[in-house]
Amino acid sequence: MKQDFLTGEELGAFELDKLLDRAQELKAGRRDGVGGEKLAGRSIALVFEKPSTRTRISFEVAVAELGGTPIVLRGDELQLSRGESISDTARVLSRYVDAIVIRSGSHEAVSELAASAEVPVVNALTPLHHPCQALADLLTLRERFGDLQGLRLAYVGDGNNVARSLAIAGELAQMEVVVAAPAGYQLEEGHGAKLTDDPRAAVSGADAIYTDVWVSMGDEAEAERRRADLTPFQVDADLLAAAKDSAVVLHCLPAHPGEEITEEVLYGSQSAVWDQAENRLHTQKALLATLLSD
Ligand code: CP
Ligand code: NVA
Repeated sequence: MKQDFLTGEELGAFELDKLLDRAQELKAGRRDGVGGEKLAGRSIALVFEKPSTRTRISFEVAVAELGGTPIVLRGDELQLSRGESISDTARVLSRYVDAIVIRSGSHEAVSELAASAEVPVVNALTPLHHPCQALADLLTLRERFGDLQGLRLAYVGDGNNVARSLAIAGELAQMEVVVAAPAGYQLEEGHGAKLTDDPRAAVSGADAIYTDVWVSMGDEAEAERRRADLTPFQVDADLLAAAKDSAVVLHCLPAHPGEEITEEVLYGSQSAVWDQAENRLHTQKALLATLLSD
């Protein structure tokens, strides 16, 4: 049975832990070529219907370093853009490649692709979920704190795809995830996260503060209203001071300094965002190796 990775819920706690172990091994052995044969003879389609810097480059490098062939496709290069159905696209791609990684403006489209594909499908971001990001976030926290269990992570800002994926992955890792967002931007109940509209209460006792853009891809028409509504949720030095002294700051990037995070915090000594960005590579290698293991 092929295994997809669409929301992160596909992984059990044990599998998630193993995947993070594997990511750490791949990271430590990267320059010695560890994992270099894992995808030998395999090809992976990387379909990007939306812009991407980190996800696209880290997946392309990940596949290449594992000895596979990455095939990067923009949505407008496929007959999909001229009306070929998602299910036919899935059937055909399955005859050529060993896995499909896709970033799309529609979560339903990615689910439909996965339902018709005979090979694993990986969600590289939809408006609802960004599970690959959450894997890198957990690896970054593991590197900083060791055990994830019991860590308190405060997500402050828009209760979006990144927040949802963190809540899901955090629950698997037995972390305490608190999402602070204003009314109208809050995550729905049911992912194991605590929800509040008070950023200070959220960050109190937190080991990590996380934020993301206020205007996600697809939200551009609401940009002005979003910036106004989310201003009280900016992560600044004052808010950071209300967390533990040992707290780290996370952001999936791209950042908009002066909006969701101040320049001082983004580039400050507690920021772990560059390690977090690097860890996309190592966790995605581990994910592909896991999904494609015989
Ligand atoms: N964090 C993240 O997914 O970045 P990109 O949009 O650049 O891929
Ligand atoms: N929430 C953002 C994440 C970008 C990596 C978006 O969906 O655009």
